[in-house]
Amino acid sequence: MSRLCVLPETWMNKRIGLIKVLRKRPVATLWLAALLAAYPASGHSMSADKDALLDALLRQMTVQEKIGQLRMQHARAAPPSSTELDAVARGEVGAMFTEPGITPAQIRALQQAATQRSRLRIPLFFAGDMVHGQRTIFPINLGQASSWDLDAIASAARVAAIEGSADGLDMTFAPVLDISRDPRWGRMSEGYGEDTYLAARIAQVVIRALQGPTLGASNSLMACVKHFAGYGAVEGGRDYNTTDMSERRLAEDHLPPFKAAVDAGAGAVMTALTSLNGVPATANRWLLQDVLRRQWQFNGLVISDHGAVAELTDHGIAEDGQGAAEAAFTAGTQMSMSDRYFARYLPSLIKQGLASEQQLDAAVRQVLSTKYDLGLFHDPFRRLQAPHAAVGEAQRLHRAEARDMARRSLVLLKNHKQVLPLNPHANIALVGPLADNALDILGSWHASGKPGHAITLRRGIENAQAPDARLVYAKGANISDDPLAFALLADNQMSFDPTAPETLIAQAVAAARRADVIVAALGEARGMSHEGASRTDLNLPEQQRALLRALKATGKPLVLVLMNGRPLTITEESQWADAVLETWFSGTEGGNAIADVLFGDYNPSGKLAVTFPRSAGQIPMYYNHLNTGRPFDPATPSAYRSRYYDIDDTPLYPFGFGLSYTRFSVSPPRLSSARLRSGQDLRVAATVRNEGTRSGETVVQLYVRDRSASVSRPVKQLIGFEKLLLEPGQTREVVLEIPQSALGFMDRDLRPVIEPGGFDVMVGLDSQALEKASFQVMP
Ligand code: BGC
Repeated sequence: MSRLCVLPETWMNKRIGLIKVLRKRPVATLWLAALLAAYPASGHSMSADKDALLDALLRQMTVQEKIGQLRMQHARAAPPSSTELDAVARGEVGAMFTEPGITPAQIRALQQAATQRSRLRIPLFFAGDMVHGQRTIFPINLGQASSWDLDAIASAARVAAIEGSADGLDMTFAPVLDISRDPRWGRMSEGYGEDTYLAARIAQVVIRALQGPTLGASNSLMACVKHFAGYGAVEGGRDYNTTDMSERRLAEDHLPPFKAAVDAGAGAVMTALTSLNGVPATANRWLLQDVLRRQWQFNGLVISDHGAVAELTDHGIAEDGQGAAEAAFTAGTQMSMSDRYFARYLPSLIKQGLASEQQLDAAVRQVLSTKYDLGLFHDPFRRLQAPHAAVGEAQRLHRAEARDMARRSLVLLKNHKQVLPLNPHANIALVGPLADNALDILGSWHASGKPGHAITLRRGIENAQAPDARLVYAKGANISDDPLAFALLADNQMSFDPTAPETLIAQAVAAARRADVIVAALGEARGMSHEGASRTDLNLPEQQRALLRALKATGKPLVLVLMNGRPLTITEESQWADAVLETWFSGTEGGNAIADVLFGDYNPSGKLAVTFPRSAGQIPMYYNHLNTGRPFDPATPSAYRSRYYDIDDTPLYPFGFGLSYTRFSVSPPRLSSARLRSGQDLRVAATVRNEGTRSGETVVQLYVRDRSASVSRPVKQLIGFEKLLLEPGQTREVVLEIPQSALGFMDRDLRPVIEPGGFDVMVGLDSQALEKASFQVMP
């Protein structure tokens, strides 16, 4: 039977003319070309045409070819070897996980092997980690979340999609939707902070921005959201450790950002490396089938994390490789990243009836469907034809968007006696290991971003200072004096100055003495807030603390610019410094953005997306905790109350906190009704006023508390926010609509309910300074 005979009959009749035209081409090309011509550039929906194509392909495929589609192979940033190309040509690979720096030419060679040499010409798809940018690096996501600016975050994601797709990539392993309340975990830097509602709102805009109006567009990227699920709550903040949590906490706090992403159309989900309540996520049938497929109706692709299938033996749920492949595949992991377990073991699993052919076909159909949605059957080279290929690398950067996002992500934590903004004519001593550091400012996962393109703080200040002003730079300290401690980090490229530590400090102090003001850029190396980089304490490394102490002793005004990927316990440092600006790892345009804020060209508007504890011993510390039966009240202190007796019970900086160069006031909330009928929504209004003399943006935050319910509810929970710009003296009315469904929770049987009773609604500019009103939900 000729290959053409597999086509549906109606289709055959309609396309016969076209097939005649193509007749002279080799038979396989003819077959595929004819198929492709039949289908329009794809959208994301399952069309009849798409079904016909996938059916036709599945009928043609051998079991080995099908299994090949389930393998995501590692592609290095190097010309592919003949071994790699031959494996692709034999149909043993379905997709490629690409290293940063891989070129479109290298991707093209691999795609050619698939589409010109493999029997069925099925294209590959190419994925990479564009976690906060591809070439233009935006602030780390913890910083982006601190902007509370959904438009700016969406614009950053769109740029990543434009740049990533122009580099030949089809999918990004992003966004990271792990909720984390443990800053010891280095990967907190990759996510959007501690709050479920904020992360879910961000997830939705990021998915839409990455995937664009249609996934098939040449500048759209498929989002592979990760890590499903519970990874952000690893015990003790130790990376890859076990997660054990109640189903309620999982459902209410950790799953909603993923659900929001699925609802927004995310095309793929990556399983977590970790286990959840004893069952590794990659082999967790309940997560992958009951929750993801049945409850949420997810119809995209499930990919394992890197090596996660193989690691199932270490997790102790499989005796050997075959057991690992069986556990992952039958649970619902469809494609395995960077191991050969499916390729090696699925044939025998199927022969023995331990995995079914129907399961295999379903997984393969999903992979093919992903490729179809990405437009790859229509044109496998659609993301390899960027017209700007000839344009210089630097010209391809989106600097304006990066600077805008970066300055919105900066959080002013302290500004004693308005030491900021700086006078552009002031003589500045700029010190610290991060002050002139183009590598660390990019943060972890900097994809194809280049330090050579990054604006350091030193350059940013030079760009902003008046011509008559002096800038004296001194490093003052290494990031750490113990590079050996960091030798095992995934990213350990820490630059080390062998000058004696006392000499470095003396040079910095000498520079400080000659200046009007000191700007000290201190914090972490990017590798310290990264995968595999957990910490037991959250202090600034000791030598940096010594430097800051010495600078404080000069008596000069002292501005601390923090660069780090997690909250640091800077209780003392925040007292030594007159001003503290949290800048995270702010990306390619970081230096200019920080200078914009330091000199007042941009009025800071960022608000923390994560609580800053005073001590690592307070972890987990998060704003939406339960009240307990014995809450501590500092107004009436007593023993037998829930607190640590050796430390101030409050956070150093609360969730939602951030200062501005102007002052804002917020009125108590006014409610559309104090008694809500069942099903009736609530409207909350508040008056916000800029009381100062500069225009500025702030974030009005709305929290709710269910005072009495069948299960204990958090002391407050974010359910709405609005970022707004106010001119000096301007007043604005903010109105936030709260659907009654937002007042719901999981009852004792984990069914969603909205219970009648008393609620508090709180409005303010951070999670602690709030104005309150109350209302009732009627039965
Ligand atoms: C990480 C993922 C990442 C993958 C590929 C894994 O170690 O957990 O987040 O996408 O590597 O780089």
